[in-house]
Amino acid sequence: MKTRREFLKDTCTTCLGTVALGFTFSQLSSCSSLPVFKANLEQKTVTVPLTSFAESNLVIVRDMQVQFDILLVKKSAEEYNALHMKCSHRDNPVSATKSGLYCPEHGSTFDLDGNVTKEPAPLPLKKFKTTLSDQNITIDLNS
Ligand code: FES
Repeated sequence: MKTRREFLKDTCTTCLGTVALGFTFSQLSSCSSLPVFKANLEQKTVTVPLTSFAESNLVIVRDMQVQFDILLVKKSAEEYNALHMKCSHRDNPVSATKSGLYCPEHGSTFDLDGNVTKEPAPLPLKKFKTTLSDQNITIDLNS
């Protein structure tokens, strides 16, 4: 299994350089055409402003202290999915596209609800509970 650092280096060198140099636009930067929200983990919750969805219905939530990113999917104004980007096959980081997620290690794919669409992954991606307030989505990493 690749480490998070190896994965980022292999798949998104440009993005990693952007993050390392601190080039951001209102805490958002692009990686594989999806915006990345640089999270600040507080007591196992992450708060993401709704303005993060200005460019896309998909936002990658990243805290460099945490091994795997979270893909936050806006399904409607009231419904969001927070998917742990950790493959259920052998715990490899998965990549997100506008139509789903894939694992570069053995080729598993997942839809934007986290369901397996191509094996060998045996289980859906883990979903975290989300809570919507006026201006934010809060992801509960304990759920
Ligand atoms: S680790 Fe993801 S398909 Fe094997």
